[in-house]
Amino acid sequence: MLSSRLVQFRSMCLPVVLCSRHKRNIHVGKQLRCRSKPELYDVVVCGGGMVGTAMAAALGHEPMFEGKRVLLLEAGPKQNYNEPLPEKFFNRTCSLNAGAVSLLRSFGAWENILNARCQEVKRMQIWDACSDSIITFNHDSLENLAYVAENNVILAGILKQLDAAGDRVHVKYGATVKDYKLPGGQSFDTEQSKYACVQLESGEEIRAKLMIGADGFKSMLRSAANIPTISWNYNHVGVVASLRLAEPTENNVAWQRFLKTGPIALLPLSNEYCNLIWSTTPEESKHLMMLPAESFVDAVNHAFWSDEHKNSAAQYTNRLFDGLLTRLGLEGSSSQQLPPTIIEVDKGSRAMFPLSLSHATQYVRSRVALVGDAAHRVHPMAGQGVNLGFGDVALLRDLLVSVVYEGKDVGSLGHLLKYETQRQRHVVVSMASVDGLYRLYGTDVTPVVLLRSLGLQATNALRPLKEKMIQFAAN
Ligand SMILES: Cc1cc2nc3c(=O)[nH]c(=O)nc-3n(C[C@H](O)[C@H](O)[C@H](O)COP(=O)(O)OP(=O)(O)OC[C@H]3O[C@@H](n4cnc5c(N)ncnc54)[C@H](O)[C@@H]3O)c2cc1C
Ligand SMILES: *[C@@H]1O[C@H](CO)[C@@H](O)[C@H](O)[C@H]1NC(C)=O
Repeated sequence: MLSSRLVQFRSMCLPVVLCSRHKRNIHVGKQLRCRSKPELYDVVVCGGGMVGTAMAAALGHEPMFEGKRVLLLEAGPKQNYNEPLPEKFFNRTCSLNAGAVSLLRSFGAWENILNARCQEVKRMQIWDACSDSIITFNHDSLENLAYVAENNVILAGILKQLDAAGDRVHVKYGATVKDYKLPGGQSFDTEQSKYACVQLESGEEIRAKLMIGADGFKSMLRSAANIPTISWNYNHVGVVASLRLAEPTENNVAWQRFLKTGPIALLPLSNEYCNLIWSTTPEESKHLMMLPAESFVDAVNHAFWSDEHKNSAAQYTNRLFDGLLTRLGLEGSSSQQLPPTIIEVDKGSRAMFPLSLSHATQYVRSRVALVGDAAHRVHPMAGQGVNLGFGDVALLRDLLVSVVYEGKDVGSLGHLLKYETQRQRHVVVSMASVDGLYRLYGTDVTPVVLLRSLGLQATNALRPLKEKMIQFAAN
């Protein structure tokens, strides 16, 4: 039912780009194979972002994978994690939920991140510019709300563990994938089409029993596997920046306010700094990017403090929020705290990027599996992008471990389909809910965005909230 909802959103189908086939390759019907007999790996992970690196490191630390050959390919250079962290915060951050923390902990990366730099979120306050409606979540009612960490810090923490896996994972940096040759059709019982094959820009070819695509939202492996994606555009832009507070505080609250033009959020980075994520119209974002530093700071403070949008919608939203609170069994709106005042924006930290949403209709093919943004890209505002990706990694790792335990083929479609089914059930529900609510609410926002971004088990919260919203829309 949810997948049919997804279709109702009149998503635009992206054109499917078939990978160019190299002339030297031998064509066998629709199937292609590598020219000679290049090196064979059990698993090749394509793309060394946070998700791909976590995939490789997780497999590298699995006792069941001892003796298996794992390779990670990344186009960019290796990040040096031995250098001391710059004093200035990076402007790209993620909030990590309990699931992400548990995956990272399973292969030792979590300690690295904790020891480097990250901030615990103990309280979350979400409120609406049009009303006094407010939701707060406290650490006491919800264990381990979330952690906020810079993307570079997360990646460095994972990389360190990848190195610790030693020879069990081979890594090639500066290795850009040029082309893939994948087993044709749904079966791969002929000798020619037995393995997946990747060709690098350098001309080198490598074969894999399983090729994992962690190559981001423009995934080349996804195109080569002929997997269509559904995508849609919010016509919204995310503006990020590192902001200094007027006064140091304990700073473990995440703030989000719904404005007419979109949600604005502050995530704590330290007792003096917050990361701003402001989702707004393209026009306003351009304006925000061009403002002098002081005016930009004023605009942020105004967005959190101004009363100008209060209106009669308050009644509706109040009802809505009350419904949510009652169903969640949470405290009411008595405990509103005032958001912090910003005094300064870090030079060079202001950046903007378009917000979009896309979903691969399938996550697997024979000898191919997609993880992370290659499979699904959500509203980055929600900050849950990487949490979903880490969820993919945890499930795929567990599945592959059991396949190896049973002595079966890691690239076999039968097993991979279990991964697809389980993950899509989770991801599609969350994407459809967020997008559906986004539309139903009529404004550009839903509290769900931050709920999920902070990794609450929002599936429970989503359903009653969605029902309320549907009632509201029907009335
Ligand atoms: C501008 C921007 C801002 C964002 N901000 C936030 C945020 O604030 N919070 C949040 O939670 N999420 C944010 N997101 C989303 C978040 O970055 C992603 O969900 C997350 O990075 C996905 O990780 P990934 O490893 O799946 O993909 P990616 O991070 O995209 O990594 C893909 C990797 O594959 C490599 N690669 C690609 N093609 C090839 C090739 N042909 N050969 C070899 N290697 C290749 C790339 O070099 C890259 O390292 C943002 C995304 C964007 C684009
Ligand atoms: C902020 O983001 C932009 C664009 O991604 C990047 O070029 C810049 O280096 C970032 N600055 C910091 C301090 O992270």
